[in-house]
Amino acid sequence: MLENLVEIIKKSKNCVVLTGAGISSESGVPTFRGKEGLWGKFRPEELATMEAFMSNSQVVWEWYNWRRELMSKVKPNPGHYALVELAEFFDDYTLITQNVDSLHKMAGSEDILELHGNIYRNKCMNCNKIVDEEIEIDPESIPLCIYCGGKIRPDVVWFGEMLNELIISEAFTKSETADIFLSVGTSAIVHPAASLPVNSKRSGAILVEINPEMTPLTDLADFYFEYPSGEFLPKLIEKLKA
Ligand code: OAD
Repeated sequence: MLENLVEIIKKSKNCVVLTGAGISSESGVPTFRGKEGLWGKFRPEELATMEAFMSNSQVVWEWYNWRRELMSKVKPNPGHYALVELAEFFDDYTLITQNVDSLHKMAGSEDILELHGNIYRNKCMNCNKIVDEEIEIDPESIPLCIYCGGKIRPDVVWFGEMLNELIISEAFTKSETADIFLSVGTSAIVHPAASLPVNSKRSGAILVEINPEMTPLTDLADFYFEYPSGEFLPKLIEKLKA
């Protein structure tokens, strides 16, 4: 099966890869769902919503500072590095991620479409202006926007919020023109991200899923590799180079 995929990749020109929390799990970043997942330990509506931030911004910032610290200690794993190398095999290559951890960038990937924002960036809760410099936030004294006085919050997408229009529309455009679409380490249940592989397949792409557990996408996939991405992706690159 891997040999067949290698042949298809060699003939393909446009590739889109969508990643989720699973690709970073081998770096030590907890996923959202599953036994050890973040949402098993915390209630999303208490932490990752605008309502939570309005009613208890201190607790929300304490949680994000905890996650920032955890993420700042980890490094990209062989899966992230393999996706940097994979770009070389296509004329057009788009990496879309739901992750906010910057690990793709640290590995060396470029022009990443970060659907759910970036945990290290801050913005104003009212006017959405991005705070240029990386600032550490003291939860007991949250800084205010210099333009409108709104509280500064992390630039990540919370439950009930819209995704950045330009980023999601580019993600759909690229997915619909791809020859091959790889879904890596995502439970494929959170929309609109979960619609990308489905739309891509409908538009004619070969759909490949890499995930040690089956998802709603598995039945639709042309290839399903039941492996951790940090094991499978380097093997794929090795075969492509052979
Ligand atoms: P999930 O936590 O929902 O799913 C992680 C997926 O990774 C699961 O399907 C696991 O089986 C798989 N997985 C675990 N270890 C893996 C490994 N080593 N290699 C490959 N796959 C592995 O994470 P996401 O699908 O990213 O949104 O979740 C989507 C969104 O839900 C997140 O971006 C977040 C959350 O609510 C927001 O915060 C807006």
